[in-house]
Amino acid sequence: MDANFAVFRCFGQRERNPVRLVGGRLHRTGVRFRTACPAPRLLVEHVVSRAGGRNGVDASDDDPLDELVRRVPPIEFGNRLGDLTFGHPVWDSGDVPDEVYELDSADNGFADVWHTDMTFMPRPPMGSILRPVVLPRNGGDTNWADAELAYLSLSEPIRRLVDGLTAVHDGSREFGYYLKQRRDGRGNTWDGKEVTELVPVSHPVVRVHPETGRKSLFVNPGFTSHIEGVSEAESRGILDLLYAHITKPEHIVRHRWRLGDLVLWDNRNTLHYANRDYGDNRSVMHRITLRGDAPVGPA
Ligand SMILES: [Fe+2]
Repeated sequence: MDANFAVFRCFGQRERNPVRLVGGRLHRTGVRFRTACPAPRLLVEHVVSRAGGRNGVDASDDDPLDELVRRVPPIEFGNRLGDLTFGHPVWDSGDVPDEVYELDSADNGFADVWHTDMTFMPRPPMGSILRPVVLPRNGGDTNWADAELAYLSLSEPIRRLVDGLTAVHDGSREFGYYLKQRRDGRGNTWDGKEVTELVPVSHPVVRVHPETGRKSLFVNPGFTSHIEGVSEAESRGILDLLYAHITKPEHIVRHRWRLGDLVLWDNRNTLHYANRDYGDNRSVMHRITLRGDAPVGPA
């Protein structure tokens, strides 16, 4: 068993299965047969799923999934799991297909802030799939935080407090200028409409997972601007408390990338962070995202 596998088992401390190589399971449950729409089940069973690993000790020439990941382009892979979104609501990743969001460190593409992908949209993606294209010699690991586990490990009075809160997520802070100046106010298509402005959206602070009914903390430092209906100081205090709690080491798994890897995660109950620790080395990652629904809070 290699180190990555051991680390990925961290999320298995509760009833959910350990995060692990999905291997034959993914193959059996519908990479070939999209009708079963396996993505939700995969996302529920494994917070973060990893497949492939061309040079990894756990990649097997005999494993049909490893073979598939090597052979099938990520977009086709994603298409077999669900409906794909544009790579980003406003960002133009250039010379890649529409569905791909390219993070190139040479073009200031970093993700070294804890975030959940595109929560500033009314319907953020259900899941994300990430694949390395160019890897630095060292560093560039990605970390995921389990926001369900974080919710569960809060004290009961704080859970009660956050259960009733709503937060605003604002993409204009990071992408507003880009949309206006670089795209002339004409972004990409999202949920069937061209994105022309990034209007802040409200989401429940505690999200109920549509597949399992389990609650998770649905705020992130990347895109959450404030809690509604409380003072600025209270909002800051609550968010700081939640962020410090979510990112405690016991809620986190970390993945060291190898070319050929492909990682799929549930974007409804996790946050992630890409280490920026590789100096002038280059990192290029390709992400594709599965269409999701509007977050729902506790009744
Ligand atoms: Fe991300």
